[in-house]
Amino acid sequence: MMRDAAQFEPVDSRLTQPDFWQTLQSRWSSDDEETLVCCQVRQETHDVKSFFFRSPQGRTFSFEPGQFITLELEIDGETINRCYTISSSPTRPHTISITVKRVPGGKVSNWLHDNLQAGAPVRVLGPAGEFTCARHPARKYLFLSAGSGITPLMSMSRAHHELSEDRDIVFVHSARTPDDIIFSRELDLIASNQNQFRTAFVCERIGNRTNWHGVTGFLSLPLLKLIAPDFMEREIFTCGPAPYMQAVRDLLDEAGFERKHYHEESFSFERLTGSAPETDESAVAQATTETFEEAATFTVTFTKSHREITCGAQQHVLEAARQAGVRLPASCTQGMCGTCKVKLTSGEVEMKHNGGIRQREIDQGMVLLCCSKPLSDLVVEK
Ligand SMILES: Cc1cc2nc3c(=O)[nH]c(=O)nc-3n(C[C@H](O)[C@H](O)[C@H](O)COP(=O)(O)OP(=O)(O)OC[C@H]3O[C@@H](n4cnc5c(N)ncnc54)[C@H](O)[C@@H]3O)c2cc1C
Ligand code: FES
Repeated sequence: MMRDAAQFEPVDSRLTQPDFWQTLQSRWSSDDEETLVCCQVRQETHDVKSFFFRSPQGRTFSFEPGQFITLELEIDGETINRCYTISSSPTRPHTISITVKRVPGGKVSNWLHDNLQAGAPVRVLGPAGEFTCARHPARKYLFLSAGSGITPLMSMSRAHHELSEDRDIVFVHSARTPDDIIFSRELDLIASNQNQFRTAFVCERIGNRTNWHGVTGFLSLPLLKLIAPDFMEREIFTCGPAPYMQAVRDLLDEAGFERKHYHEESFSFERLTGSAPETDESAVAQATTETFEEAATFTVTFTKSHREITCGAQQHVLEAARQAGVRLPASCTQGMCGTCKVKLTSGEVEMKHNGGIRQREIDQGMVLLCCSKPLSDLVVEK
């Protein structure tokens, strides 16, 4: 039967050839296009939703599986930044998704769940991050995750699946109850399509289920040996709450696992933020040879809080502010997330960032205090 030609009219005229193919060549960068549009919201579990975004200009996304983006949101008149791992696969480049778990009392996660809907614009920075299997090719992987820490490992699993790489992957995910397992159906699907992809779920308790045949309890060394007897030969990627990752590190240490094959991502940056500032070896060498620079200090004035501090020439402004008791928003402390971005109204800094600021913002006099060292006295709008 012949169909009426009108039935085949594309719904969206922007997607007719050749425009569609042209968009494939245009890669999204938060430098060129800072606002994405939320195009779909999916309820994953009772307290987890995935939010999908597309570029209004039809640009495609390029990232490594495991990397994150930073959302810049206006909530109650305040600009708030939060990082979320891209849970989708780079092999589906027309959209990116993040998967967010409600944190009790948490400002942004609850705001996203309650307010963000399809059609809404969102300012986004990134992608950034080094937690990716793409930089650690291996024959065999072990993915260990708990709670929302599943997202980077899901992106990696999706990527391997879509590339039809039947990579030997054991994916062990821990959750509170079977109903809290995120992406369980999709993980089952991947496992059914790939001979060498195996999943194991470890639930603290059964919850409301009556038909749970998986493991209950917590991940332990004997359990890991049962699930993946060859785990010592695998490249391990771990993501989850801090106590979970500590437990994983402890059990791997007990087994004598080589740390160079172990990679982890923290969702709180707390280990980074709480740790002593990293030693910049080149800066130390420079400081020891150049006594003037070593001794030089500058004044940093915060105009809104009316505070004035002293900052060494070899010190990051954020670190000096913290030492002086000035509280400033910061998350990664590595120039990645954009949380410590401020306007520099006077003075000059040397800034070594990792993607947490756009070139346009730098041109407008914005700086990231966590990775900026003063070259003169500074006046900061904060
Ligand atoms: C690289 C990276 C990737 C991430 N990826 C994901 C992801 O894929 N999915 C995901 O769900 N999350 C992810 N996160 C975590 C995410 O960025 C947020 O930290 C998380 O959503 C909580 O933010 P929030 O604003 O809701 O909570 P916040 O408002 O930051 O609160 C966090 C906690 O602190 C408590 N709290 C807040 N204010 C106070 C106060 N004044 N006194 C005492 N307690 C307080 C809250 O009750 C809550 O328990 C990631 C984080 C990083 C760094
Ligand atoms: S704290 Fe993340 S960029 Fe400065």
